[in-house]
Amino acid sequence: VVVIADEAVAALHATALVTSLRDAGKSVSLQVVPPGEESKVLSMAAMLYGRLLEHGVDRHDLIVALGGGVVCDLAGFVASTFLRGIPHLQVPTTTLAAIDATIGGKTALHAPFGKNLIGTTYPPKAVLIAGTHLASQPRREHTAGLVEALKLAATLDATLFDTIGREASRLLACAEPTLNVLRRAVVLKADLLGRHDFVAGERTVLSFGHCVGEAIEAGAEHRLLHGEAVALGMLAETEWAEAEGWCAGISGALATVVRALGLSNDWRACAIDERGIGGEAKRRGSNLRLAYVPRIGSHEVRTVPAAALIEFVRRRRTP
Ligand SMILES: NC(=O)c1ccc[n+]([C@@H]2O[C@H](COP(=O)([O-])OP(=O)(O)OC[C@H]3O[C@@H](n4cnc5c(N)ncnc54)[C@H](O)[C@@H]3O)[C@@H](O)[C@H]2O)c1
Repeated sequence: VVVIADEAVAALHATALVTSLRDAGKSVSLQVVPPGEESKVLSMAAMLYGRLLEHGVDRHDLIVALGGGVVCDLAGFVASTFLRGIPHLQVPTTTLAAIDATIGGKTALHAPFGKNLIGTTYPPKAVLIAGTHLASQPRREHTAGLVEALKLAATLDATLFDTIGREASRLLACAEPTLNVLRRAVVLKADLLGRHDFVAGERTVLSFGHCVGEAIEAGAEHRLLHGEAVALGMLAETEWAEAEGWCAGISGALATVVRALGLSNDWRACAIDERGIGGEAKRRGSNLRLAYVPRIGSHEVRTVPAAALIEFVRRRRTP
């Protein structure tokens, strides 16, 4: 078994995992990479291929990713490409990795020509989520990760939405209902991905908040975490849907939960890189596919002119 972790997570959690695997009779090697997005690159994958070769790893062996989305992406990519694919397990240690990065089987590395542009689709044998791992992640990471659960709740599950609002303070402390909320979010996402064609299917609901959120993330020059920007994007897109008359009263409900999670709901004050609105993935020529929430716990998708959303954002922003 080859366990891959970054330095921060290895220091906290690798000993317990490696010891339990050795106690179970496994031969274990721990491979540690530097923390951060800089590790999600081909040169790091090449370094790991070298280590796997040194250890004589073959297709009967197992890679275990222990870490946040960076390590899960890197280790998943290495597992999918070494010897044309060897089995791997994902042990996510951030909330984002638990309910987003490890569900759906996508792996990605950054390239000099853009982020996440080299990758594979290679589901792990299992995803093992432990409260003890999640409890030590940076608080801001956890909060931003909870936005993914909020997005799934707003678009798919009104009961989960109520739970997140009601239990926000305990969720922020990673206390009692956290694993149940994450479990429900994982089931919602896995069901959604399972129902649609794995690669090319209709996943627009998962991009709720991303048309504007990614432009806010770019405008903040990455000082905002992805989840923080998506929360603001969900509010902006919902306000637009309300202005167009497609729904009513949703942005207020969303803003209340976003605030309860300790996040900003003031998207109007954000720097927004308008060129990023709708990103390439959501564009269809001059139109984009936009998911919105007609009632909490449900969603609809419309093809809308990108220019209309850009104009709305421009007019509503606080100068
Ligand atoms: N493959 C996918 O479908 C997918 C989906 C979403 C995001 N991602 C990727 O995930 C990455 C972001 O993931 P992330 O937010 O988890 O970042 P990350 O993996 O960089 O972790 C954030 C920081 O928290 C530390 N950390 C992680 N777990 C910890 C713990 N339990 N205790 C203490 N410290 C801990 C890490 O060392 C790191 O410094 C991005 O590269 C993104 O592209 C992939």
